[in-house]
Amino acid sequence: MTDAKKLFVKTYGCQMNVYDTERMVEAMGAKGYVTTDKAEDADMVLLNTCHIREKASEKLYSDLGRLRSLKNAKPDLKVGVAGCVAQAEGAEILRRSPVVDLVVGPQAYHRLPQMVEAGGRLVDTDFPVEDKFTLLPERKSLRGPTAFLTVQEGCDKFCAFCVVPYTRGAEVSRPVGRLLDEARGLVAQGVREITLLGQNVNAYHGEGPDGAWGLSRLLRELAKIEGLARLRYTTSHPNDMDDDLIAAHGDLPELMPYLHLPVQSGSDRILKAMNRKHTADQYLRLVDRIRAVRPDILLSSDFIVGFPGETDADFQATLDLVKNVGYGQAFSFKYSARPGTPAAEKPPVAADIADGRLQDLQALLTAQQHAAQEAMIGREVSVLYEKPGRMSGQMVGKSDHLHAVHVKDPSGRIGQLVRARVLASTSNSLAAEPLFANE
Ligand code: SAH
Ligand code: SF4
Ligand code: F3S
Repeated sequence: MTDAKKLFVKTYGCQMNVYDTERMVEAMGAKGYVTTDKAEDADMVLLNTCHIREKASEKLYSDLGRLRSLKNAKPDLKVGVAGCVAQAEGAEILRRSPVVDLVVGPQAYHRLPQMVEAGGRLVDTDFPVEDKFTLLPERKSLRGPTAFLTVQEGCDKFCAFCVVPYTRGAEVSRPVGRLLDEARGLVAQGVREITLLGQNVNAYHGEGPDGAWGLSRLLRELAKIEGLARLRYTTSHPNDMDDDLIAAHGDLPELMPYLHLPVQSGSDRILKAMNRKHTADQYLRLVDRIRAVRPDILLSSDFIVGFPGETDADFQATLDLVKNVGYGQAFSFKYSARPGTPAAEKPPVAADIADGRLQDLQALLTAQQHAAQEAMIGREVSVLYEKPGRMSGQMVGKSDHLHAVHVKDPSGRIGQLVRARVLASTSNSLAAEPLFANE
């Protein structure tokens, strides 16, 4: 018997890449590859890359530099680059880095096993007409109690700063039937929480048995699956939050009270220059409508500071919006000019000014995050155990509000959904004691 070949994968970027990595691992698994967490042991190294900011895509080249000695020691080692840098740079990666054998874009990775078999240095960054999902092997690897499920890919919004419409292509929604099958399969393997993924997940409009379904109808159908306790979705665009999706947050107990709703800026002038197609006030009114049906919902967002043309007054408008909304958590980034995007043509804000703004915004967001965590102290929460904690007798999982919670529960099992009382808040998580098992 020959030993199985070993595959080492490193994933950068968003949850969509995490999902894609899983599917690539499964596709390579069907060809006899097993994963390893040590690059030195691997027969193949796959880097699933992100292009969103300059720093993210530069990581690829520093990692490739480090792989050079590994490849010198083991000339048969195959090195593949997948994901959004692969899509954006294609054959340029082969030119820049001699260690790379394969470059495969996010819409072509179902062909990765064939590329590996064919040998040689190959690039595939096509947006094929066939649906890659139908060509991938069925999902059957052993998994924990939570899973991602990509329902929609690509983006037609063309925000002025963003590479996603170029790297992921136009919006495409997967058909309802296939998603229900995939979700039922996941639940049959013990999954209790599914997060629906899409670069623009609430623009979902997949083919159903009786015409196109929106995201809310898909969520309502998924909520009926026996054994599926929790649903989440990410990432949403404010303009695609329709009435029924908002209503679903009030109607569906399975739909968790957490919503990532990126706004990017609080200044109408900057929002317009970003091509976000909504004002700060429209966003605030949307938040009010969501909170009217689900008052305890915890909101999250993404922000960009230092977008070209951003003045102190524009930045102040962002701080004002943050104070107005009160976020449970949020991500904030310094604007990074991306080649090929419209905003990259404009004169940048001075780096020290952008750095200062980022610090100020992050201080405010961190204070809000801590306040939201502290508000949980004394409250009862549900926790879905995902793994044992670092301390013995401790389990770690997420609450409904997506807080990481450490629970002192020596008899706790992975996959259990437990009621617990929050005792304390630390910088990034909550500590709790179990009340009683939920089942
Ligand atoms: N589809 C999602 C997220 C896309 S990327 C959405 O529409 O919100 C995740 C986040 O990265 C964005 O929300 C934005 O805040 C940030 N981002 C995207 N391009 C960027 C750039 N050029 N510079 C800095 N941050 C950027
Ligand atoms: Fe990028 Fe805007 Fe599309 Fe989000 S909505 S992926 S930020 S272009
Ligand atoms: Fe990055 Fe591509 Fe996701 S650019 S954020 S990996 S869609």
